[in-house]
Amino acid sequence: MAEKFNTSNLSKQELASQLRKPKGNDGKEVGKQMNKGNKLICLNSYQVLNPRKNSLILEIGMGNGLFIKELLNKTSNLKYIGLDFSQTMIDEAIELNQNFIDAKKVSFIHGSIESLPFEDNSIDYITTTNTVYFWPNLYENAKEIYRVLKPNGKILIGYRSKELMDQIELANFGFNKYKKNEIETLLKNTGFKKIETEIISEPDLEFDGKPMKMHGFYSTGIK
Ligand SMILES: C[S@@+](CC[C@H](N)C(=O)[O-])C[C@H]1O[C@@H](n2cnc3c(N)ncnc32)[C@H](O)[C@@H]1O
Repeated sequence: MAEKFNTSNLSKQELASQLRKPKGNDGKEVGKQMNKGNKLICLNSYQVLNPRKNSLILEIGMGNGLFIKELLNKTSNLKYIGLDFSQTMIDEAIELNQNFIDAKKVSFIHGSIESLPFEDNSIDYITTTNTVYFWPNLYENAKEIYRVLKPNGKILIGYRSKELMDQIELANFGFNKYKKNEIETLLKNTGFKKIETEIISEPDLEFDGKPMKMHGFYSTGIK
């Protein structure tokens, strides 16, 4: 059985806008729908990221952060910062991760990828899943990631490829779609080394009543 991505009460345009920046009660609901449709791409991103113990991880655009616990379970003494420009998602992520916040393992910052509020060379890993479609300035935003990563730090961009997104009607509303070679070129031109892309298949997902073959792309590079 294909997992359903239920989009019934919003128009395609409204849903696309909520996926870019979830807002209000509809935004909370879209956050929960994303947890169903994006569970595997989120978990696979953490798997491919494969952080070392004692590291500091920044996730850009974590949504409601339901899967952060799975990342923290990967190894010991990880610290996680989630940054998102949706206040609705920050509020939801705080509620879902209050125990980790109290334990000082997790914090959240309201902000945009355009200007990361971190010093140069300060973060071990940066991971971002299903956000690249919305980056306002691809090259400038990648440079900002490069700036804050430590030397030898790792970037992971998790995304659905252009070929897949072309089959999803709502992705015609405000999504930028990228092929694997475009993301790899982006990382290369930003200065990253050891660029690799892992492609992981997922069970079908039901979109608008029809099952779709799903896979996630995970492009990584080292500063
Ligand atoms: C489609 S959701 C993906 C959420 C989650 N990563 C997932 O895959 O389910 C995109 C998320 O990125 C955030 N986002 C989009 N553009 C952003 C930007 N310029 N800066 C920070 N966050 C951004 C949105 O608010 C939203 O939470």
